[in-house]
Amino acid sequence: MAMIQKHAILERSPTLLLVTSLLVVTVGGIVEIAPLFWLENTIEEVDGVRPYSPLELKGRDIYIREGCYVCHSQMIRPMRDEVERYGHYSLAAESMYDHPFQWGSKRTGPDLARVGGRYSNAWHLDHMIDPQSVVPESIMPKYAFLLNATLDGEDIADVMSTHRFVGVPYTDQQIELAQADFRDQADPDADWDALLERYPGAAVGNFDGQPELTEMDAIIAYLQVLGTMVDFSTFTPAASR
Ligand code: HEC
Repeated sequence: MAMIQKHAILERSPTLLLVTSLLVVTVGGIVEIAPLFWLENTIEEVDGVRPYSPLELKGRDIYIREGCYVCHSQMIRPMRDEVERYGHYSLAAESMYDHPFQWGSKRTGPDLARVGGRYSNAWHLDHMIDPQSVVPESIMPKYAFLLNATLDGEDIADVMSTHRFVGVPYTDQQIELAQADFRDQADPDADWDALLERYPGAAVGNFDGQPELTEMDAIIAYLQVLGTMVDFSTFTPAASR
């Protein structure tokens, strides 16, 4: 019997066709998806990528709560126009500690994956209070109210433990010192050396210029770390090593 006639048997029986197509799709799916769970290099490890500091992590929660992702993506695609505008394309490793990731696809405003260090804390403060005061044509909403929301960091150790539960490698020490680090990062009188050893490259200082620790401090601390963890002057992709 020719192959085409054997196939006719399948095509004439809806049940048989359904069962065999499901089988084919299942095998195809497993072959494509399963290796990702065992492959060691699904996400290549990149020097410099570290878990967020307690204050950055809080800022990230505020970013998500306020829906900043509705207008801002955090993923620079490897295309020339993007790389020229925003900097080195995003690496998977750069969002490996993001739960959930903030890649997004909607850009009413610019991509923020590498906004860290691009502006001063004072610029961010003015911009968050009233975007039109620094970018007159901006349609970004005002977030001045973040200045009024004070923070005590009481729950931050729990938040970090939860992140550890889903795979972020916070150490016992980092969780133990969470609340102190939370306050110190925005306290100009604090000794930042130990904090910076735990969270290299974190932006420190009184971000919002107020004595109280506020949600504004947290969100600026978060914005200032975005895209700054990897040193691209020394980075070479695994494929070309
Ligand atoms: C309604 C859409 C919208 C929302 C929501 C929004 N933004 Fe924006 N954002 C913009 C637009 C448009 C710009 C470009 C003009 C400007 O700089 O204000 C911008 C610019 C920015 C910039 C400067 C980026 C650069 O490279 O110049 C930062 C930082 C920023 N937004 C942070 C935030 C944060 C944090 C939030 C949430 C608290 C947020 N935005 C919410 C629309 C939005």
